[in-house]
Amino acid sequence: MQTRSLVVSLLTAASLVAAQFRVTVPSTSNWWVARSTNILEWTCREANAPAQFTVLIGNSDQTILVQPLAIIAQQNNFDCSIIITQDQANQAAGQGYQVYLANPLNNTDVYATSEPFEIKPLGSLYPTQQAAAASSAAAAASASAAANSTNSNNNNNNSGAFSVRSGVIGGMAAGVVGLVGGIAATML
Ligand SMILES: *[C@@H]1O[C@H](CO)[C@@H](O)[C@H](O)[C@H]1NC(C)=O
Ligand SMILES: *[C@@H]1O[C@H](CO)[C@@H](O)[C@H](O)[C@H]1NC(C)=O
Ligand SMILES: *[C@@H]1O[C@H](CO)[C@@H](O)[C@H](O)[C@H]1NC(C)=O
Repeated sequence: MQTRSLVVSLLTAASLVAAQFRVTVPSTSNWWVARSTNILEWTCREANAPAQFTVLIGNSDQTILVQPLAIIAQQNNFDCSIIITQDQANQAAGQGYQVYLANPLNNTDVYATSEPFEIKPLGSLYPTQQAAAASSAAAAASASAAANSTNSNNNNNNSGAFSVRSGVIGGMAAGVVGLVGGIAATML
């Protein structure tokens, strides 16, 4: 009986920890790109999510940012994610940035802090673009492997020319994916 209630309260404690109002993007694996539009995302559906907050950006290195800078004075929680334009936040490329969601009346009362994240230089791929480029490179490699095995199955003696051609096509496919990603980013 007692063991059971202990288990129940441990489970409750664990789910309380999991269900916290927090910043999901940016993060250590979801960087921003300097002088570009970037995404801010938070767990808006948590019970303890505040209705409104101020968005600030800071850096652990005070030579980069002396103190956290408000980039949005009043943000509604129900938006769940927003696009930050370069007019709102225009920080230099660097490591160690953090986003704070804070009480609009008292910015030192911080509701949620992002993981430290990097702002990569202008022109860097966004995390999603990098994933797309990696998967299209993998697709090109497996297409080339398929071409090789087709080639070795039929006995035409053209393997050199064939695999060069499939390599070029794979490269073009990767280029098109990159271009489309770039256009999507510009449209954002
Ligand atoms: C602002 O928030 C901080 C941290 O919660 C608190 O210590 C401080 O007293 C608050 N200031 C005011 C004026 O309420
Ligand atoms: C296909 O064959 C070429 C030439 O034999 C080789 O260089 C290339 O690595 C092969 N590609 C794959 C994916 O096996
Ligand atoms: C295929 O071509 C290569 C190089 O062009 C040659 O060395 C090889 O003997 C050829 N093989 C056959 C089966 O014709």
